[in-house]
Amino acid sequence: MSGEAKLSVPSFALRDTGGEVPTHVAIIMDGNGRWAAKRGLPRFEGHRRGVEAIRRAVRSAIDLGIRYLTVYSFSSENWRRPAQEVSDLMGLLKRFVRHDLADLHANNVRVKIIGERETLAPDIRALLDEAESLTRDNTALTLVIAFNYGGRQEIAHAMRALAEKVKAGELDPASIDLDAIEAHLDTRGIPDPDLVIRTSGEQRVSNFLTWQTAYSEFVFTPEFWPDFNDEIFRAALDEYRRRDRRFGGLSAQAV
Ligand code: IPE
Ligand code: IPE
Ligand code: MG
Repeated sequence: MSGEAKLSVPSFALRDTGGEVPTHVAIIMDGNGRWAAKRGLPRFEGHRRGVEAIRRAVRSAIDLGIRYLTVYSFSSENWRRPAQEVSDLMGLLKRFVRHDLADLHANNVRVKIIGERETLAPDIRALLDEAESLTRDNTALTLVIAFNYGGRQEIAHAMRALAEKVKAGELDPASIDLDAIEAHLDTRGIPDPDLVIRTSGEQRVSNFLTWQTAYSEFVFTPEFWPDFNDEIFRAALDEYRRRDRRFGGLSAQAV
């Protein structure tokens, strides 16, 4: 593991970001396989380099003063890939947590994992639990890792939990409103993403944060995920700043 970049970010690294910084940026990290194929390398190499891009993204997010960074690491549908690739991706997650947890903690990063945990191998579950409990009181960036995550699955899970409470007589169906649903999602307590970035040129959501992205801005960038860097991140934020978020109302200039 020597040679892998460390995540040290000095607290004085905060730079002028030149305008409004989104509170929550969520990234669909796509294109690892194509990055590798373009170089005649196995897909695994793309995934391995993708982990390095996550480290860069975390550093940039801290540097930029972003409070929440969500990264889509493994979707509920990614089980459809060949068993070897699934196992490689599980291995990389374990390696990432084992190698980076101390650094993340030292940088005051809180780690939160969303997605279905029950069906993961016990050793992975233990690592994810450890990452969350070690960093639970950290106050700089919250790094949300969406792993074995599907937006529709998350909503179905919340519906089931609400139905159980109704059945037990703890909840009146008339009180099921937006807040009640949100309180049963994996992302409870986390503000909705302001900006979603997807790399690799694909322009779709792929079951990511289905509920939470109702009013998010989307930026699609052509670069493959392993090439993601601070410059691309800042360009996406520049694009975000040019957007006029209306949330169904009128733009500030019109009122
Ligand atoms: C993103 O890269 C990583 C995961 C989905 C786990 P891909 O593996 O989807 O790469 P492409 O889209 O095949 O290039
Ligand atoms: C979305 O990418 C999932 C992750 C980035 C983890 P995919 O590569 O799985 O999405 P599709 O299949 O192209 O929609
Ligand atoms: Mg893909």
